[in-house]
Amino acid sequence: MKILVIGSGGREHALAWKISQSPHLKKLYCAPGNAGTASIAENVPIMDTDIKDLVNFASQENIDLTVVGPELPLTLGIVNVFEKKGLKIFGPDEDSAELEGSKVYSKQFMERHNITSARYKVAYSPKEAKKALNSGEFSFPLVIKADGLAAGTGVIICEDREKATEAINLIMIEKKFGVSGKQAIIEECLTGMEVSFIVLSDGTRVLPLVTTMDHKAAYDRDQGPNTGGMGAISPSPFISREIFNEVMNSIVFPTIIHMIEEGRKYKGVLYVGLMLTEDGPKVLEYNCRFGDPETQPQMLRMESDLVDVLLSVVEENVLEKEIKWDRKASGCVILASGGYPLEYEKGKRIQGLDETSAIDGITIFHAGTKQQEGEYYTNGGRVLGICASEKSLSEAMGKIYKAISKISFDGMQFRKDIGVLREGGE
Ligand code: AMP
Ligand code: GLY
Repeated sequence: MKILVIGSGGREHALAWKISQSPHLKKLYCAPGNAGTASIAENVPIMDTDIKDLVNFASQENIDLTVVGPELPLTLGIVNVFEKKGLKIFGPDEDSAELEGSKVYSKQFMERHNITSARYKVAYSPKEAKKALNSGEFSFPLVIKADGLAAGTGVIICEDREKATEAINLIMIEKKFGVSGKQAIIEECLTGMEVSFIVLSDGTRVLPLVTTMDHKAAYDRDQGPNTGGMGAISPSPFISREIFNEVMNSIVFPTIIHMIEEGRKYKGVLYVGLMLTEDGPKVLEYNCRFGDPETQPQMLRMESDLVDVLLSVVEENVLEKEIKWDRKASGCVILASGGYPLEYEKGKRIQGLDETSAIDGITIFHAGTKQQEGEYYTNGGRVLGICASEKSLSEAMGKIYKAISKISFDGMQFRKDIGVLREGGE
C-alpha cells in the first residue's frame, strides 16, 4: 500500500514509524513531515492545511490510505474532500470533528446527553460574559475559554474577578485568539488528576487504546503554564479498571451513540480529556485525533500492525481486529526549546542525536526539527521526544533520562519528573 501521513509533529513521526513496520507498506509519504520522518518516509512539502494540494497529491500518487495527525485539517473537512474523491482517509469528517473544533458545540452536546462535564455558560458578547461573572453563578477560580481551535492556548484559569475581566477582554475584545473570540465559555474550575482517555471508533463500535497520561505543565511538579505536553507515559497509573469501565459506560459509549443520533457518525480517534474529580470523571474536552505526546509511548507498546488497525476503523470493522499490546511500560520525555510555550528561538544546532539514537532500547521521535547539510537544528517549540519501554516505568524513565544527558542544544528545556508518579492501576 501507499500511505500518506499528514502533519509534522512527534505524534506523526511515531505514527509513521509504526506504519513503516507494516507488511502492507510499499511506500510512505509525510506531508510536510520533519527531519525524523525524512529517514523513514518521503517528505512532501505540502502544509497540513493545504487540503486542495493534499487531495491532488493523493489522487496523482494513488495513495491507498491517508492518516491525518492534527486537528486543524480535520475541522476544515479534509475527510469529506478525500472521501468525495473516493480516497481512503483515517479521521472524523468535518461535522464530527466539531466535537473538538467548537467548544460550544461540545459543551451543548454533553449537556443534551447528560455526559458529565464542568458547569458552564456561553457568552455571545463581552457584556453577557461580564454579567455571568457578576451573577454569582460561578465561584473563583473559574475557567474562561475562547471558542474554536486556539492551538491549546485559548483556556484561561482565573483566580479572581480582575483576572476574569482581563481574560474576557483578551478573548472577546482584543481577539487575541483570532476567530475564536466570537463566543466565550465561562466554566466551573475542576480539580483532580487530569488524564487522557483515547479510543478508536468506527462509527458504531469502540476499541480503547492502552491507557496513557500526559504531563501538560511546562515545569517540574506541574508548575508553570500549560503546554501541548512535556512528556507522557503508558499505562496510566491513575486509570483503574473501575474508572476505565465508568468512563467507557458513562462517557465514551454515550458519546458515540449520541453522535449517531445527531447524524454525525464518528470515525477515527476519540480522545477524551478527563478530570478525575472527587465526584467521578468529568470531561474537560474532546479531541478528534491522537494525542501528542501520548501517541509516542502508545506506539512503542503496540504489537499489532497499525495499518490493519487504522483500516479497521476506515472500513468499519474494528472489533474484528483487536489490538495486541506489549505489557511493558513506556515513556516519552519532550526536549523543548528554551522559553516554550511562550517565546522561543529556532535554528539551534542539536548535538549528540546520532549517538543517542544508537543506544539500545531508545527511540527518538522528532517534532520541531530540520536537517541541513547533515546537521540537525531545532525548528519548533517541542523539538524531540526521547522514548523507551521497559519492564517497569521507573526502568524506562531511568533509561530515557540517561540518554537525554547525551543530547544538547542551546536553551534545551525538559521536565525531570516525567513518570514520577504512584505506580499501579490499569
Ligand atoms: P481544553 O482546551 O478545553 O482542553 O483545556 C486545556 C486545558 O485547560 C485542559 O487540559 C485542562 O488542563 C485545563 N482546563 C480546561 N477546562 C478546565 C476546567 N473546567 N477546570 C480545570 N481545568 C481546565
Ligand atoms: N497532549 C495533549 C494533546 O494531544 O492534546
